[in-house]
Amino acid sequence: DIPEPFQVPLPRPQVLKPSNSDGSTDFYELTQRSAKVEIIPGHKTEIWGYNGTFPGPTIESRAGRRTVVRHRNELPVPVVVHLHGGKTPPEHDGYPIDYILPKGGWEAGGSMPGHDMAAGKTSQGTKDYIYPLDQPAATLWYHDHRMDFTGPQVYRGLAGFHLVRDDEEDALPLPKGEREVPLFICDRSFSEDGSFRYPSSDHNLHDPGVTGQFENGVIGDVILVNGAPWPTMDVTNTRYRFRVLNGSNARRYGLSLDPKPSDGSSFIQIGSDSGLLGAPIGHDKIDIAPAERYDLVIDFSKFKVGTKVTLRNDMDKGKLGAIMQFHVARSASDDSTVPNRLADFEQLDRSMAVQTRQFLFSQGVSGGKQVWTVNGKPFDPNRIDAQPKLGSVEIWKLVTDVHHPVHLHLAHFQVLRRQGLAPSARDAGWKDTVDILPGQIVEVAAKFTGYQGKYVFHCHNLEHEDMVMMSNLEVV
Ligand code: C2O
Ligand code: CU
Repeated sequence: DIPEPFQVPLPRPQVLKPSNSDGSTDFYELTQRSAKVEIIPGHKTEIWGYNGTFPGPTIESRAGRRTVVRHRNELPVPVVVHLHGGKTPPEHDGYPIDYILPKGGWEAGGSMPGHDMAAGKTSQGTKDYIYPLDQPAATLWYHDHRMDFTGPQVYRGLAGFHLVRDDEEDALPLPKGEREVPLFICDRSFSEDGSFRYPSSDHNLHDPGVTGQFENGVIGDVILVNGAPWPTMDVTNTRYRFRVLNGSNARRYGLSLDPKPSDGSSFIQIGSDSGLLGAPIGHDKIDIAPAERYDLVIDFSKFKVGTKVTLRNDMDKGKLGAIMQFHVARSASDDSTVPNRLADFEQLDRSMAVQTRQFLFSQGVSGGKQVWTVNGKPFDPNRIDAQPKLGSVEIWKLVTDVHHPVHLHLAHFQVLRRQGLAPSARDAGWKDTVDILPGQIVEVAAKFTGYQGKYVFHCHNLEHEDMVMMSNLEVV
């Protein structure tokens, strides 16, 4: 009984209140637990969620103020939390084998060499993640990062928004309050009884992996936005700011509006993965790969009151060709604008780079099994594949066989070239994830500021990641 599109109202994830604050720090608490929630009307779905919700509560931090999140693990498996896009010291970055073990204890798990618990820094039951958040306003997100099991654990619900705000952004006349809306887009499949249908080899998540076609990535047949199937949202005929995240394991979307506004662009992009752009960019269509974020303003004053505007996915011809609907329900006044200058933006130039490296993301073989590899090698927590210097800029040439959205922890980067050509309009700004098309070479300039230490970089198709398409960089 999957509902017809545009029946369910768009939910908004709850904003988490700090449990305590002092002069420099806000303290939060999250419990990771299972819960039964209504996603498909009339059915209960068991999720694994932060505070039992999916998506998890939104954390809102001030740039430069420390955020400490105490995570309590009440799930039956080890968990790891990564703040995606955060400039975080390595011991708080959610290295994939730095487990928070279940309260009840845990035996073995992880069949890949080196992925055992002994190699990581494990915590029993709880861990405090410390985030300095010395970085500009941006749409970050947090999600599970357990070695070999990120795909199934995120699919069950372990993901949420973490927004960073700052004074520079607050001073801009952008849409705010009710008119600033996070949109967590993902796809899922459901069984008859309403449960999530993820094709894990082992439902208890002791043994990793998916098989057959799912090795290419698990895609679903229902689109959820903020945890609701093809929702609808009443809007006024004013500007809205949408922080769009593709939180899917493997599916890409081609975002467009139907109808399109009669004048001007459908979307005014104001931010990318890692913060505001220097100046806004108009788009009629934006492709978004897993883990990418686009900060978009839609001006509903370009539509007559009463119009229903569909947010479409141009990459699907069927039911998944729609994502959600906006109903321009009434008129209202609007004092927001999108200024021509948004933020101080430092354009990186190829001449700043002190080093060039190349990484091939492709299918390979390890231990007689088909896996996904970086430069032909499966992930090994003890092997470092790049040692950039703290504060330096490097050019990384990322090469693919099929689609791979590549994500670097810690370092933010700018796209310099795609296939030797100028980047596409959607590549603008500071990013932490770049969508690389099949057989493409994308050059990025990455800036390794923040902290020394070991971090991962990997494909953010979560099944590719779990099937070891991951590698280590060490900032020295
Ligand atoms: Cu969003 Cu290493 O991941
Ligand atoms: Cu991949």
